[in-house]
Amino acid sequence: MKPEFVVAIDGPAGAGKSTAAQGVAAALEGFRYLDTGAMYRAVTAYLLRFDKKDASENEMAEAAEGLELRAGKHFVHGVDVSDALRTPGVDAEVSRVSALPRVRRVIQGKQREQRGRIVVEGRDIGSVVFPNAAVKVFLTAQLSERARRRHRQDPVQSPDEVQASIARRDAIDSSRADSPLIVPEGAHEIDTTELSIEEMVERIVSLVQAADA
Ligand code: DC
Repeated sequence: MKPEFVVAIDGPAGAGKSTAAQGVAAALEGFRYLDTGAMYRAVTAYLLRFDKKDASENEMAEAAEGLELRAGKHFVHGVDVSDALRTPGVDAEVSRVSALPRVRRVIQGKQREQRGRIVVEGRDIGSVVFPNAAVKVFLTAQLSERARRRHRQDPVQSPDEVQASIARRDAIDSSRADSPLIVPEGAHEIDTTELSIEEMVERIVSLVQAADA
């Protein structure tokens, strides 16, 4: 079994993926939204909660096996980590955890178990997880604009700290050996620096409607 229809939205941090994916899922009847970054974040939050940030790759993969999405919440081996997904600690560690091949195999397997019509956001969705996705989109935006958006969402850190943190994550995510952040073959590239949310969502909705005709 596979999902019936996949809209894959990839791109670096702050490019607008979550906003776009949620907007597209809301605009189109029968589509669900899946945030795959949150899955890696949940595993990382669980490891931090139990002081296991220096655990072996096998132990981290075992933590990943325990991930469950229930009613919009993220549980790892029964522990609800939903409140900790966007903390600076998780921001700092998630790229390292998500670069580990065994962790990725487990999480990618859980993504492929999804059913129905889904809008999926991540880094490797159109390239590795769902290379046959009906629609592939790659969102980009200038680094300064991406940092400004993230800072506005969550002003815990200074704008400069936010920019340094996302630049660091981009570098790790793009250069890792296993499923790096790349523009997938056949993806529509959209630069969102100057686009409003409505314009961004509208463009993707048009691509989905054309593919679903
Ligand atoms: O989209 P995000 O910032 O919540 O993602 C958090 C981290 O998870 C990101 O730095 C890279 C990783 N990630 C990944 O490796 N593959 C995905 N499909 C989604 C996220």
